[in-house]
Amino acid sequence: MTDNRPRRTFAVISHPDAGKSTLTEALALHARVLTEAGAVHGKGNRRATVSDWMAMEKSRGISITSAALQFDYRDHVVNLVDTPGHSDFSEDTYRVLSAVDSAVMLVDAGKGLEPQTLKLFRVCALRGIPVITVINKWDRPGLSPLGLMDEIEQQIKLRPTPLTWPVGEAGDFRGVLDRRSGEFVKYTRTAGGATRAPERRMSAAEVEDVDAAAWSAASDEHELLTLDDADHDQERFLAGETTPVMFASALQNFGVAQLLDLLLELAPGPSATAGVDGTVRSVDDDFSAFVFKVQSGMNSSHRDRMAYARVVSGTFERGMVVTHASTGRPFATKYAQALFGRETTSVETAAPGDIIGFVNAQALRVGDTVYDGPPIDYPPVPSFAPEHFMAVSARDIGRYKQFRRGIEQLDQEGVVQVLRSELRGDQAPVLAAVGPLQFEVVEERMTNEFTSPIRLTRLDYQLARRTDAEGAQQLSGLRGVEVLQRTDGTYMALFTDKWRAKNVARELPDVRLDELPAGG
Ligand code: G4P
Repeated sequence: MTDNRPRRTFAVISHPDAGKSTLTEALALHARVLTEAGAVHGKGNRRATVSDWMAMEKSRGISITSAALQFDYRDHVVNLVDTPGHSDFSEDTYRVLSAVDSAVMLVDAGKGLEPQTLKLFRVCALRGIPVITVINKWDRPGLSPLGLMDEIEQQIKLRPTPLTWPVGEAGDFRGVLDRRSGEFVKYTRTAGGATRAPERRMSAAEVEDVDAAAWSAASDEHELLTLDDADHDQERFLAGETTPVMFASALQNFGVAQLLDLLLELAPGPSATAGVDGTVRSVDDDFSAFVFKVQSGMNSSHRDRMAYARVVSGTFERGMVVTHASTGRPFATKYAQALFGRETTSVETAAPGDIIGFVNAQALRVGDTVYDGPPIDYPPVPSFAPEHFMAVSARDIGRYKQFRRGIEQLDQEGVVQVLRSELRGDQAPVLAAVGPLQFEVVEERMTNEFTSPIRLTRLDYQLARRTDAEGAQQLSGLRGVEVLQRTDGTYMALFTDKWRAKNVARELPDVRLDELPAGG
């Protein structure tokens, strides 16, 4: 039977340690996916999250993966797409953002906005994804709430519109003032946050056991915010001009139910999407989906390949034969899986917003569209500006065939971008990555999966610009610049630093030098 309940598909963007795993666990707990936080064994004796399956797979020597956690909440289906940003910050982290309709920006109250959060935010801004901000760890000493609001406004240029406002400063958390209802939501510390904390609401008149000074300070600031035009406005939020803010303690399960309620109330659901030729597919048209991540080597005993796709329109039914847009060939979906945290189960049906995994989908690449009914082809998932570059070669030249096959496969999967030039030859291409840990993945997989250990040599380049054939000619021979070609034919000019790139742009104004999207 088709499950037509409304969907909310989102990702959490944050810097490592801001509390993403803790929040994921708390969300799942609230939605009663887990009976008790930590029910899935893991870190320490209670810290285990559904998204920790990633780490588990890694510790078993399986490559880094990402998937989605699906749960029910108040007659909605919520898909939390995992951003593999923990130990490996890579292009994958950016790409999953093409599969979501909104993002939750999780900020550590003690640290404010951190680099990885800012990078991910930029991708959201580029793609027009509305962002809800959660200030986490309010149970610990941290920055002042007004100071944090200033920082958000200055750094990401979105107007923060707090929906809740803390009563008691960071570290002395009494609860929050719900700015829309004027109610006080009392914060109760639970033992280790391990159970579902009740959130007690009371009217302003009833606020008894709260420090009068803390309540009146919060009320004053709430009024200041209103005067400063910092109240929530749904249209401006959806237009990417504002970010609703709430204060929470993921560890103590405070604010988690509020966040889920907000996602249902404010965050957009799946909507009509345009193909490359401008044809628009509404959510209730025929089935279509696009692949945002491809992964192989998850099971080292046999070579498997999993393509993760987000359903854009229609109903997916397992077994249906769809069309693969880039080849026009039929694609059978007998082995589709739904993703529930670390468990994968066969999926029977899926609706727009859901994530499905196609097992052994050799033909599918990142950005590919599959559809039923009239043809549709969604725009490619953008690739991001690499900032790390390594020359790669086979340690054992006798294994060159394996080397070439491995590099080709990793390029196709988008683990790294592979750049080539006549000068460097085919035996020593350049690998370009968004995060340095992508090279470790390459090294590990080349050795174990493709049985061709590699030698990596760091290149002294820091940024890449897109150019064209003419530009490539004009730039050749200049100091501190090298032009190579990506597998898709794009010319990439690599520069040792941004000053050199600026200088070249100034001196050779006719040369095409485009900034690549995002990536910092
Ligand atoms: P991450 O996935 O974003 O990397 O962060 P994670 O959830 O692992 O949290 C990082 C650390 O911050 C953990 O502490 C976690 O307990 C703590 N933390 C998360 N949310 C809150 C919160 O709301 N309040 C407080 N006080 N701490 C929070 P750790 O010491 O690194 O790990 P553990 O020993 O607690 O497992």
